[in-house]
Amino acid sequence: MSAVGAARALLVELTGTEPDGTWSAPGRANLIGEHTDYNDGFVFPFAIGERTHVALRHRDDGRIRVVSTFDADPVEVALTDLDGLFPARRDDVAEWARYPLGVAWALIQASGADAVTLGGVDLAFASDVPVGAGLSSSAAIEGATASALNDVWGLGMGRVALATAGTRAENEAVGAPTGVMDQLASMLGEADAAIFLDCRSLETEVVELGFGPAGLTLLVIDTGVKHAHSTGGYGERRAACERGAAVMGVPALRDLSVDDLPRAQELLDDVTFRRVRHIVTENQRVLDTVQTLRAHGPRAIGGLLDASHASMRDDFEISVPELDLAVDTSRATGAIGARMTGGGFGGAAIALVPDEHVEAVASAVTASFADAGFAAPHVFPVAASRGAGRDA
Ligand code: GLA
Repeated sequence: MSAVGAARALLVELTGTEPDGTWSAPGRANLIGEHTDYNDGFVFPFAIGERTHVALRHRDDGRIRVVSTFDADPVEVALTDLDGLFPARRDDVAEWARYPLGVAWALIQASGADAVTLGGVDLAFASDVPVGAGLSSSAAIEGATASALNDVWGLGMGRVALATAGTRAENEAVGAPTGVMDQLASMLGEADAAIFLDCRSLETEVVELGFGPAGLTLLVIDTGVKHAHSTGGYGERRAACERGAAVMGVPALRDLSVDDLPRAQELLDDVTFRRVRHIVTENQRVLDTVQTLRAHGPRAIGGLLDASHASMRDDFEISVPELDLAVDTSRATGAIGARMTGGGFGGAAIALVPDEHVEAVASAVTASFADAGFAAPHVFPVAASRGAGRDA
């Protein structure tokens, strides 16, 4: 069954009635610009075709109930009680339910709406975005929820504000110290285009990718190595960046350029310096990728993707052996560029591959994983797609 069909069926099972409508939001792949978002820098992600759907039915009692195909048990709470649940990290709320309930809470906060006057809702979720693959299944839940509630509650919030509410839910209701990239990509995505985001001003530009006309396919290689950004390495990297900015006397690493790196090397310990060097060079690579794409087309960006991966592997140290193998094998068998995508410590790599080499790259990667004794990866093409909204 399709994800939209599954969401509808789940709502019918829960309420005994048809939904008022369904909304959805996509996952994302990041073409380039990793860990730059929370450093006020640049990112260049695109929304993918895989989406999370939510079926919605209004209710008369001012309560919100969420249910999903990821978890058997519905979670229900009065809208007026959301304030008591968040931002406090109450562990009596199931992990996945924090995403939609956190978004409802953040939307009420951001819009200034009075929770007493808002209509209650039942929300049933189903998704075809792989979970834990670095493709932002969480931003897809947040985007679908934000889009649906904005419409039915008549909040009139714009897409950037809805994305920001999703990030706030992720930061404060879930406790993952992430930036704004995933939610903005999921909200603003467009077919065949990536979104060039300035994460300081939140200004965005839609840039055509032109992969199809150039005879290119973007493959995702989901290594199956699971990661969670509410624990461990992600927060440590963020703290190192903040430490580096403080020592360098700038508000954020965005304010440094490659010319500042020699001074950074003098002032910082080796590890912090390498974290800083990744961010500073990655910001430059995002700018170069956008410019190269416009001037010379997508076949010219491969070297920038490769350099981004090397920087994450060696300087930011967020790759894992499975990601390195996926990237190296893709390149060796015909990809014009490849890199891990997303927060790291697992998840997926992307490879930009001429159409005629797609089969060869996919089978070589699968074979290399078997040889290395790794679990089989999931290799599939993705296409840049539209952002969140009501389903037709
Ligand atoms: C995760 C976070 C994003 C971003 C990336 C790394 O996906 O949610 O905000 O920091 O990692 O680029």
